[in-house]
Amino acid sequence: MGINTVLKLVCVILMVEIIHQSSARPSIRADNCGYQTCPLEKEGFINVHLVAHTHDDAGWLKTVDQYYYGARSQIQEAGVQYIIDSVVDELKDHPDRRFIYVEMAFFSRWWEEQNESTKSIVRELVNQGRLEFINGGWCMNDEATAYYVDIIDQMSLGLITLNDTFGECGRPRIAWQIDPFGHSREQANLFAEMGYDGLFFGRLDHEDKRERTTKKTMEMIWKASNSPVNQSSLFTAVNYNLYQPPPGFCFDIYCNDEPIIDDPKSKDYNVEQRVTDFLNYCEEQANAYATDSILLTMGSDFHYQDANVWFKNMDKLIKYANARQTEGSRFNLFYSTPSCYTKALNDHAVTWPTKTDDFFPYGSDSHAYWTGYFTSRPASKYMIRQASNLLQSCKQMDATLARQGATKAGDLFTMKDAMGIMQHHDAVTGTEKQHVAEDYALLLHKGVEECRKIQTSYYEKELVLGNTPLPKVSYCQLNISQCEPSETNNQFVINVYNSMALEVDRYIRVPVASGTNFRVLDTLGNTMPSQSIPIAESVKALPGRVSTATRELVFLARQLPPLGSKSYFVQPEPSGEDETIEPENKSSISNEKVSVEIDDVTGLIKSVTVNGKTTPLKQEFLWYASKSGDNSEADKRASGAYIFRPEGNDPLAMPSSGVRTTTYSGDLVQEIHQVYNPWVSQTIRVYKGQEHVELDWVVGPIPVEDGIGKEIISRISTDMVSKETFYTDANGRQTLERVLDVRESYPYTVTEPVAANYYPVNSHIFVKDSIGNQMTVLVDRPQGGSSLHDGELELMVHRRCLYDDAFGVGEALNEMAYGTGLVVRGTHFLILGDETNSMKLTRSLSHELYKQPQISFIPSTLSYQEWSALYKTEYQSISRTLPNNVNLLTLETLAGGKYLIRLEHIYDVGEDPILSQTVTVSLEGLFPGFTITSAEETMLGGNQFKKDSNRLIWNAASPERKAGHQMGEVRIPAVLLKPMEIRSFILTLVRII
Ligand SMILES: *[C@@H]1O[C@H](CO)[C@@H](O)[C@H](O)[C@H]1NC(C)=O
Ligand SMILES: *[C@@H]1O[C@H](CO)[C@@H](O)[C@H](O)[C@H]1NC(C)=O
Ligand SMILES: [Zn+2]
Repeated sequence: MGINTVLKLVCVILMVEIIHQSSARPSIRADNCGYQTCPLEKEGFINVHLVAHTHDDAGWLKTVDQYYYGARSQIQEAGVQYIIDSVVDELKDHPDRRFIYVEMAFFSRWWEEQNESTKSIVRELVNQGRLEFINGGWCMNDEATAYYVDIIDQMSLGLITLNDTFGECGRPRIAWQIDPFGHSREQANLFAEMGYDGLFFGRLDHEDKRERTTKKTMEMIWKASNSPVNQSSLFTAVNYNLYQPPPGFCFDIYCNDEPIIDDPKSKDYNVEQRVTDFLNYCEEQANAYATDSILLTMGSDFHYQDANVWFKNMDKLIKYANARQTEGSRFNLFYSTPSCYTKALNDHAVTWPTKTDDFFPYGSDSHAYWTGYFTSRPASKYMIRQASNLLQSCKQMDATLARQGATKAGDLFTMKDAMGIMQHHDAVTGTEKQHVAEDYALLLHKGVEECRKIQTSYYEKELVLGNTPLPKVSYCQLNISQCEPSETNNQFVINVYNSMALEVDRYIRVPVASGTNFRVLDTLGNTMPSQSIPIAESVKALPGRVSTATRELVFLARQLPPLGSKSYFVQPEPSGEDETIEPENKSSISNEKVSVEIDDVTGLIKSVTVNGKTTPLKQEFLWYASKSGDNSEADKRASGAYIFRPEGNDPLAMPSSGVRTTTYSGDLVQEIHQVYNPWVSQTIRVYKGQEHVELDWVVGPIPVEDGIGKEIISRISTDMVSKETFYTDANGRQTLERVLDVRESYPYTVTEPVAANYYPVNSHIFVKDSIGNQMTVLVDRPQGGSSLHDGELELMVHRRCLYDDAFGVGEALNEMAYGTGLVVRGTHFLILGDETNSMKLTRSLSHELYKQPQISFIPSTLSYQEWSALYKTEYQSISRTLPNNVNLLTLETLAGGKYLIRLEHIYDVGEDPILSQTVTVSLEGLFPGFTITSAEETMLGGNQFKKDSNRLIWNAASPERKAGHQMGEVRIPAVLLKPMEIRSFILTLVRII
């Protein structure tokens, strides 16, 4: 008896077991998930798909834990563990009932707590399509302020967990974004690349919705990318009533609607009236949609805690409504799911309208534009972006350690879980209650701590040559120019880790103590150019900063190896006076490529010259007064966490008696420190060799003693003729054209001239003119931005509001920290130049701004010679750099000793004559000492092999250009990448030396 026979026997036994379990329900076969389990529609009827669902926010009014356990019910009645318990109970004895579940952050937690018998019941429900996972990400992520790397990570975390738990039957086919506040084209593109067959959402602009219900275009094919890859179209459906049940038919314990009372003897008997009302609503909805199939969302926030209440009433509704078919009723009701509804539409021979732009911004009425949250909680948004970068490094280091079979400290899951939760549409958006924001920060902080343990393990493993262990590795808060190890030691080692698969040069700045001159030695022990420059006054005064450092040591870390590190040595300079640069009274700073000129009178930038071409411009901080109001009617809407609504259409000048400036010159970096007033200041910076200008601003505490909320912008004005057109990125990837006061898809009425022209910016915003000049600003975190006048760009950097905007959060967005209004520090990169060069710089600098090197410190009194005898000063974990237009988006360890790798083409079509071309990347020999024995391509989520993907095919009004089928082009280990394309592979590596 061979191994095969044994395996077959086991399989037979398992099959018998499954059939036995389900023998009580002969109508449904086991392991029969997917579209074939869908209920059949009735020809000639209006088929009403009832979708039982719960919307479980991963934190909002309560923390994630409080929602899971059902704690603090005085804030909100909600307990997710009871919801899943109750739904499983109600499904198991009723084969016709169906339910969908969405948020894996909650489900995976619940699953871990179940015993085997419950797990097997749930597996059976999933295998039969009665419990269906929809979306399946860790959370339902926000689409305006989430970075694409984080969207991919959080979706993959959920999708891979689902595949590991349930296999193919657990794979979601539908993206379910019912609550996020506007919808991004890049998000749709990513969903298409993940293999989804459809996207459903609830929120779109009120004028867009009116237009679509009138024209029956609530469902469409969204062409989500300009890239020639062949799967970027996505069937998209807008829900009729957000994600709520029809008015009057909310059957949850939290609702007060009448149950169906079907005892004819009861004086409250109401079946006839209830069924008539329900069918009237179905009729109304059917009139707004293209086919005779409609989907009704039967559930809401944290519903189904007592699932019996919902299901029992829906059972009756279905029974009595369908009974009318014998009297000629045209309605056919049944339990369904979004995927079954999608499949039903796909079966109708209908040609669907197409859409190419996005669904931003979202106005829920004429004075409620959801554009404030693009900026709300700017410090939290920055912490998330930094943690995202750290997580990528950490995953790479973890993969390197795993490959070598090395043990490591630190739990990567803590960080993945925290980052997954942070992408939720009330987390990264900044639309949660203050106590929840604090809990999020704590979750993320714990993730950061775990990642640092992994980093330490990496250095301890990779840098040690012999048996002498590496001294303690320390980390610090460079974002506030505070660093205990570098401030309190006058001799230390700096490890700089580069997570890019390119060799890069990066300027490093570390706070150091006064009174000592330092020199920096490179990895070979040679002295490098360095410079010591004073820390801006406003940075030294940051609330919470505990540091005596008054200056920073600056040097250029050259040729940092791909996925690798270099160690630099900082030592006291034996002789000489203090070399810290003295302030000057100059009105310009420059390097060999760029110079910045300030106006002697105003202290503001008056021109920037790049490669000999001078652009006159003015950059300044201004503020909008937040509208106050009681929200009792549309025109009384207040500006708040979600909504941006300024008082008046022009921003106001800063209270200031003139901007004070101080200039510092040097060989490596030159700076102008500007001070507007005690709460607004900025450092303008140009580094040697760079073509962009860095603007390092500090804003806050925003004063509100006058009772007026304030929203602060940085605005740059030029005389460029940009024809009311500007461009913003989507989730840090593709670029969308925006035209002032115009929506591509629907007639739009100007009611909020400022707020309704704000768009989310995750990496870049620019204007250009017809003669090829372009002005671009890059951001270090999501912000709202616009161009309200020709040649102008503005970005909202901080906001502090005193009124709630009445969308549920119930608090004003009035952030405090260290006993005063929140102070925020951030960076903008300003790029001026011709269009092509600007796009090239935009792509490379936006990756630079995001993927800043990880810096750690080791105080040590060893000399360079002593140190380098014990430890490596340079290490790289891949064998070579990738092409300049390719980003190694992901490298992480999977269960079972495999690795997930993603390669990304970072240019879009037409951005650069050379870099936008198709590129081939070889994986051969990429991991030193290992060979790749298999590389299986997967969909973007890493949960399904590409060869198994079989997406539904749709008839679109303007059909897609058919690109060649990619599968034929896969020649592992050579990977072909088209513009903007991301390809994912599961690798098996085998050691060869
Ligand atoms: C498993 O858990 C369920 C739900 O908590 C419980 O009703 C059941 O008795 C448990 N089964 C076993 C075998 O422990
Ligand atoms: C998904 O799960 C199935 C069943 O466990 C497994 O065979 C398959 O390899 C998994 N797919 C991926 C892409 O990991
Ligand atoms: Zn929500």
